[in-house]
Amino acid sequence: MADGGFGRLIGRKRHLLGIAGLDPRAVASVLDLAETYISLARKGGARDVLRGRTVLNLFFETSTRTRTSFELAGKRLGADVINMSPSGSAMAKGESLLDTATTLNAMAIDVLVVRHDQAGTAALLAQKVEACVINAGDGAHEHPTQALLDALTIRRHRGTLAGLTVAICGDVLHSRVARSNVRLLTMMGSRVRLCGPPTLLPAGAAEWGVEVFTDLRAALREADVVMMLRLQRERMSRAFVPSSREYFRFYGLDPEKLALAKPDALVMHPGPMNRGVEIDSSVADDLAHSVIEEQVEMGVAVRMAVLDLLVRDARRNA
Ligand code: NCD
Repeated sequence: MADGGFGRLIGRKRHLLGIAGLDPRAVASVLDLAETYISLARKGGARDVLRGRTVLNLFFETSTRTRTSFELAGKRLGADVINMSPSGSAMAKGESLLDTATTLNAMAIDVLVVRHDQAGTAALLAQKVEACVINAGDGAHEHPTQALLDALTIRRHRGTLAGLTVAICGDVLHSRVARSNVRLLTMMGSRVRLCGPPTLLPAGAAEWGVEVFTDLRAALREADVVMMLRLQRERMSRAFVPSSREYFRFYGLDPEKLALAKPDALVMHPGPMNRGVEIDSSVADDLAHSVIEEQVEMGVAVRMAVLDLLVRDARRNA
């Protein structure tokens, strides 16, 4: 926010392409605004800051949570929200991404929310479309609104992110959630631990300013927050783990392993969960620790805040 706006400025618009490019003040501004939207949503209220604006959800990968969350967020702010998926669009007929961008420009979309299996798609579209672009996940690269909603959830329980030990465990290699969280949490002063089997840890992870573990028990010791990741089989080019049963034995979070973390440790998961693979049902449903449902609620509030900040800025620069 050094130049006073939120997100990355490309052309005349600002975009949320990743946590990279945000500073602690920008993160705090989203989280603070999201707080006000939580109470508004709980009271069943709505705002019309996006009245007359159009938000397009362009999802090239399947999604339930994130797409619905953006849709709800846009609607609660009074926007018209359109959902588009490639199987129902000209993309399936072989139209290039850049032709799609030209079409979107002609439609005068205000905000484009995009999810794609290729890293860099959101950034590419931001160069080509006149809308504000929000990255809703690009390959294994970034998923900034997930990291922001995770940060909001943690901050509401602990009051701060600084000084906390956060263990991010599982399929780190294929996880954009892990990458965005590492960027955000290290920037805000948390101590981040990454843990997974050696085959599922990225080669350069030790240079990310984190501690790297292959022993889940060691990674969990005295952790304030335990974030579990799904085995993202759709991104695996080969078998990275012997079997789900074997994986669960060593890397699944169960009550006995969780007992190694702080007594009041938070258990998080971005969803969708594979119960019995990376997390035991009894832990996922234990409300003394699990904030997994709350993450979903925080997702709507954070996306309202992001939409509001980007559109506000676009209006100022129009
Ligand atoms: C995550 C994603 O798509 O990266 N899910 C989500 O956005 N809630 C994590 C995952 O798919 O495992």
